[in-house]
Amino acid sequence: MRIARINTKSQSINDEPVDLGLLDKLIKKYKGKKGNVIPLLQGAQELYGYLPHEVFIKLASETGLSLSNLFGVATFYAQFRLKPVGKHIIKVCHGTACHVQNANVISEALEDALKIKDGETTEDRLFTLESVACLGCCSLAPVMMIGDGTYGKLTGNEAVKIVKNIRIKESN
Ligand code: FES
Repeated sequence: MRIARINTKSQSINDEPVDLGLLDKLIKKYKGKKGNVIPLLQGAQELYGYLPHEVFIKLASETGLSLSNLFGVATFYAQFRLKPVGKHIIKVCHGTACHVQNANVISEALEDALKIKDGETTEDRLFTLESVACLGCCSLAPVMMIGDGTYGKLTGNEAVKIVKNIRIKESN
């Protein structure tokens, strides 16, 4: 349940160039250290917001870690993103409480309105839609979060309205 795992090739072909120099400090800090794969990937994701393909190549060539090891870890853990994300990440809770309160309806309404599937980003890079596990406010089920905002006891229509309002604000 969460971001679809993605083809790891050519991820950044359509994206802005990646400034690989940003990685130097991180590599220096973790190179040769035991258990460094996850901190390296986390650090890189903090720098770029996701893990571009070029980052794997540089990490592998400069740390001696194998590409398959790096990709393996990045695709195993849901915390890692192999695709760029939108400016606003919509997290729709699909934990138990939200699931029984029809969280599916929220996700489906947003998928229809944004014309994307779960785990995808809108073409204008404004929104990424994600299903997540419990957001920790089950009494408000069904819940979604956008940035720091929490929206509870939602209906599909309300969720769509909230997202539309953000889009209107962004276009002003
Ligand atoms: S199950 Fe959705 S907030 Fe806990």
